Amino acid sequence: MPINQEHTFLVNALQKYDHNKAVRLHVPGHGGGPGLPQAMRQGNLPGWDVTELAGLDDLHNPAGVIAAAQRSAAELYGARCTFFLVNGTTVGLQALITATCSEEQALVLPRNVHRSVLGGLVVSGARPVFIEPVIVPEFDFAAGFLPDKLEAVLRQNPGAGAVLAVHPCYYGVVGDLAGVDKICRRHEVPLLVDEAHGTHLRLHSGLPADALSLGADAVVQSVHKTGGALTQASWLHLGTDRIARERVADALRLLQTSSPSYILLASLDAARRQMALNGQVMLDDLLTLAGEAAWRINKISGLAVLGKEHLDGIGAFDYDPTRLVISVQGLGVSGYEVARKLAVAYGIYVEMSDAYNLVAVLSLGTSRVGVLKLVGALAEISLLKGAGHSDDRNFNVRKSVDLGQLPPQVMTPRRAWLARQKKVPLGESRGLVSAEIIAAYPPGIAVIYPGEEITPEVIEYLLQVREMGVHIQGAADPALKTLRVVNV
Ligand SMILES: Cc1ncc(COP(=O)(O)O)c(C=O)c1O
Repeated sequence: MPINQEHTFLVNALQKYDHNKAVRLHVPGHGGGPGLPQAMRQGNLPGWDVTELAGLDDLHNPAGVIAAAQRSAAELYGARCTFFLVNGTTVGLQALITATCSEEQALVLPRNVHRSVLGGLVVSGARPVFIEPVIVPEFDFAAGFLPDKLEAVLRQNPGAGAVLAVHPCYYGVVGDLAGVDKICRRHEVPLLVDEAHGTHLRLHSGLPADALSLGADAVVQSVHKTGGALTQASWLHLGTDRIARERVADALRLLQTSSPSYILLASLDAARRQMALNGQVMLDDLLTLAGEAAWRINKISGLAVLGKEHLDGIGAFDYDPTRLVISVQGLGVSGYEVARKLAVAYGIYVEMSDAYNLVAVLSLGTSRVGVLKLVGALAEISLLKGAGHSDDRNFNVRKSVDLGQLPPQVMTPRRAWLARQKKVPLGESRGLVSAEIIAAYPPGIAVIYPGEEITPEVIEYLLQVREMGVHIQGAADPALKTLRVVNV
């Protein structure tokens, strides 16, 4: 049967989502329009969809309007220079790793880094040296690493190319980045920071300090997540001259498209203006709304919102209150089920869910009405669950799965990536070298990286995760029946 070419699938799905006027508690933070800068809301976007015409500069060698826009963003963030990005923070991290680490040189990083980092490891050939992150009790997700652990790792790995920290993590928690920076200085290793979720931090004193003010050498921010830009629009700041600007520019020329979208670039310029002129006031309102939401949700039986009290005693941690991390463990159901129910029955879409939690992003485009709808829906769900209405197969999810020691690294991710590969059944993979990355949520820590040996503990862990139906990221076979391994 030929496919009917009249039909559009993606377009219809988007029209439906938009038409339903869903409550958007997810990124992009402009919330479908209200948080977009006025210039973007009123601009003739089809007319702006152009390329490097006279007067419009060139992203790869900026000397005109793009250079001027980048300079304004650098000034707002106190950066030495800023690069606009059209392929998200993903490409920024990959460029920084490529610019700082050579083949086989150590890149020190937490085990819960975003999967985009793998691209940087494959392009550069760097050898990852992982640090175990702290797990936040009760909520069971991975946050940052402790400076003491970094000290030990840098002593064991002299000549590391860079340290990469995540600030804040996906759940909005920050660690002692100033302490991390001090150690990097002492060892003369540049500090790269994935601040994908922290574009807004610098704009308000009620939020944790941003990475550039804490001394980072290079920072990448997803302006589309919490800064009011369009999806994919990010920027990369260099804070010091420890990383050569030309190396970063070269890496971005290698990795970014030769046809950057001027709509995305314009959205960065407009978002910078909005943040500079109105950011503080917008965040004042948002913080008040977030405080009210947390207070109301904490009153609902079976729910708890992440607060400072949950971070006591695990290191110098703070959190971003505009990100509501809601534990649903007290309801005896998984976060997946509650998120599904919110979407299907109430038209409320949160940013993410894991076995224990929901994460709702409140940002520049969030309305009070939407947040109150979330509170009301959660109260109803709590009542229902209290009455025992659950068909959730994650109901009995085990509290914590402990992988123990990290698997031995046999080769770098790049070598594993370039090697010949084959698929093997999970149960027959013992002793083989993984060619893929697999992470389970929660805690969001990679179980196995390309180049690592598949140990009996890894197989046991993956079998448990498979049985529990925990969300898996990265695997070529998400059902985990097979693994992709290096074919030696
Ligand atoms: C911690 C973290 N880093 C990096 C990224 C990649 O950012 P982007 O989507 O802007 O490429 C993400 C995306 O969700 C992320 O959560």
